Amino acid sequence: MAKLWAGRFQKETDAVVNDFNSSVMFDCRMYAEDIQGSIAHATMLAQQGIISQEDRDAITQGLQDLLAEIEAGKIEFSPALYEDIHMANEQLLTERIGDAGKRLHTARSRNDQVALDMRLYVRREIHEIRALVLHFMQVLCDVAEQHRESVMPGYTHLQRAQPITFAHHLMAYANMLKRDVRRLDDCLAGMDALPLGSGALAGTTYPIDRTLVAELLDFSAVMDNSLDGVSDRDYCIELCSDLSILMMHLSRLSEEVISWCSWEFKFIELDDAYSTGSSIMPQKKNPDICELIRGKTGRVYGALTTLLTFMKAIPLAYNKDMQEDKEATFEAIDTVKNCLKVIAPMFQTMTVLTENMENAAKRGFINATDCADYLTKKGMPFRDAYKVTGTLVHTCIEQGKTLDTLTLSEYQAHSPLFEEDIYHAIDLGTCVRERRSLGGPAPDEVSRQIEGIRSFLHAQKEEA
Ligand code: ARG
Repeated sequence: MAKLWAGRFQKETDAVVNDFNSSVMFDCRMYAEDIQGSIAHATMLAQQGIISQEDRDAITQGLQDLLAEIEAGKIEFSPALYEDIHMANEQLLTERIGDAGKRLHTARSRNDQVALDMRLYVRREIHEIRALVLHFMQVLCDVAEQHRESVMPGYTHLQRAQPITFAHHLMAYANMLKRDVRRLDDCLAGMDALPLGSGALAGTTYPIDRTLVAELLDFSAVMDNSLDGVSDRDYCIELCSDLSILMMHLSRLSEEVISWCSWEFKFIELDDAYSTGSSIMPQKKNPDICELIRGKTGRVYGALTTLLTFMKAIPLAYNKDMQEDKEATFEAIDTVKNCLKVIAPMFQTMTVLTENMENAAKRGFINATDCADYLTKKGMPFRDAYKVTGTLVHTCIEQGKTLDTLTLSEYQAHSPLFEEDIYHAIDLGTCVRERRSLGGPAPDEVSRQIEGIRSFLHAQKEEA
């Protein structure tokens, strides 16, 4: 098929070059944004008297019909036919409405057109990702709500450290996700300016009204410099960076679920619908979903690296390297969405084995700090109390005991400050309930944390 830019050329594009150069296989997913942008552009052209009202009407109707055809699956976006979605839509429109279609590209270049389409597409996707993150935060709150009293060991160095609750643990992730939402919002705010009207790179001689187009497409500003307008991909990089951090969070959580599912922990059991079996080992139930989330994190980091690398040495203004922004950004977006879509219901349906958590909490001397604090509260300097407790733990390990199975006289042999109430002080329930410092695991304090996240979620709904 003849290229839209055929005039200057004497020869057909080599077939291999054609496939190499073409982007329609992947940028066709921006078909709706391309049409939306073109309708706004045509509206402005007519308003400014650059094209006639009749041409504008023909273009608008033609594009709307084309949109319906594409959505009905009637159009094949093959690289043999089209170079990219921008050329495809213009060509398809012109086939349908004739000369008016050829006037659409007045005062516009594919460089500012693609810059616009990508921005519109990314903006829509960010809103979708945001909604999925908010939903997962909601799920975490719901699960946490039920486990405010479910004591589990908190770890440092993957060694049992101090008692927390399952709710407290989950709310840590809810807070990470809240920051992820804030980052996405920041990305949206940073990209809220219209690139269209930058032309190929140097604006245009036509009397265009960029502000009108910005209003029609719901941008609160226009990009201030035409070279920057066609060359900026910061928002793609920013998004991939935000998504990398988000994936890092999901991957960490997945890693924990993988551990919790193991026989070594057995803190949770995934629902059958959210786990898989082995082809040879009949006893196996594998947390494949979590492993895939952990594994797919690499794709998103890869997208960020791709974007940073191809952008780092291209001179102003547009260069074809920038076509590489699509697959990388799309890959990051798709991956994150797919991961969020499986992780939320996986959490909703899993069984929390609270008894196993509590049994693990009973082993590993996670109440040792509380024992030391007991002595400190009775007047012993903390450093001395630490030492006494350390010696007690040593004794327990030697004799195969735990702190709560030592007799009072064994305690008193180490310090006369120990009294009957030591058993209450080192009881796991007490240890958790007393940790009511702001941000701590005490059930009432975690309720406050859940409430905080819930009101954040509520405010998001109000805004939407
Ligand atoms: N498919 C191209 C891209 O994604 C569109 C812009 C092409 N512009 C050009 N001057 N070749 O970047």
